[in-house]
Amino acid sequence: MKIIMLGAPGAGKGTQAKMIADKYGVPHISTGDIFRANIKNGTQLGIEAKKYMDQGMLVPDELTVKILLDRVSKDDCSRGYVLDGFPRTIPQAEVLENALNKIHDQIDYAIDVDVPDENIINRMSGRRACLSCGATYHVVHVPPKAEGICDRCGNELILRDDDKAETVKKRLVVYHEQTQPLIDFYTKREILRTVNGTVDMNVVFEEIVKILGEKA
Ligand code: AP5
Ligand code: MG
Ligand code: ZN
Repeated sequence: MKIIMLGAPGAGKGTQAKMIADKYGVPHISTGDIFRANIKNGTQLGIEAKKYMDQGMLVPDELTVKILLDRVSKDDCSRGYVLDGFPRTIPQAEVLENALNKIHDQIDYAIDVDVPDENIINRMSGRRACLSCGATYHVVHVPPKAEGICDRCGNELILRDDDKAETVKKRLVVYHEQTQPLIDFYTKREILRTVNGTVDMNVVFEEIVKILGEKA
């Protein structure tokens, strides 16, 4: 089962991708999480990616595509995966499609988690993220059991550098310009499914399970 999560920054892609990964036993692959792990570890890739991320801009395709293709070629991806935050541009989608075509494979579903811009900024200011396992919380909607500590792995939760209101606004502009065209791209391939992302996260997930089916 190969799934792409689409949606604006803060729509809940990561939240839903984690739930899909747990239920269906496929890895959750977030390019944003990969970049943040590299920033935390001070790698060359992290230093380069941070320049773009802190401004709410996309990391160039040349850097992003290679990382993603390497990741999906790992053994744990043999039964599928859920991609969160990739592809984000038409060229990225084309590279992925071509790579899969070569091995006579394809994406099964592109799930668009639909949330209007008005809801996004409020959500982001309350978000807390775990850089170790990728879990996401919200101080009001999804609080961790102990303040500032990840329920899943016990590591410290942080407020992301790019979650300032100004940067979020920029990310929304970039989303509409560069990522939203993917909705058309996957509609044409007849694999786009849209879920309402403004309702409770468990209700969003029920909608997704209806699309994917009970079994992997
Ligand atoms: P990335 O990490 O992918 O960020 P994003 O797309 O901006 O999305 P977010 O992670 O902010 O939101 P989300 O949709 O995952 O929402 P979440 O589940 O956390 O990318 C960051 C940056 O990296 C990019 O700006 C770019 O620079 C770079 N990058 C990454 N991939 C790239 C690529 N392929 N190409 C180029 N550059 C790339 O939820 C948000 C909040 O809402 C949380 O607090 C959550 O608890 C809460 N919440 C979730 N669901 C609900 C609900 N139903 N009701 C109420 N609250 C909810
Ligand atoms: Mg995310
Ligand atoms: Zn964690």
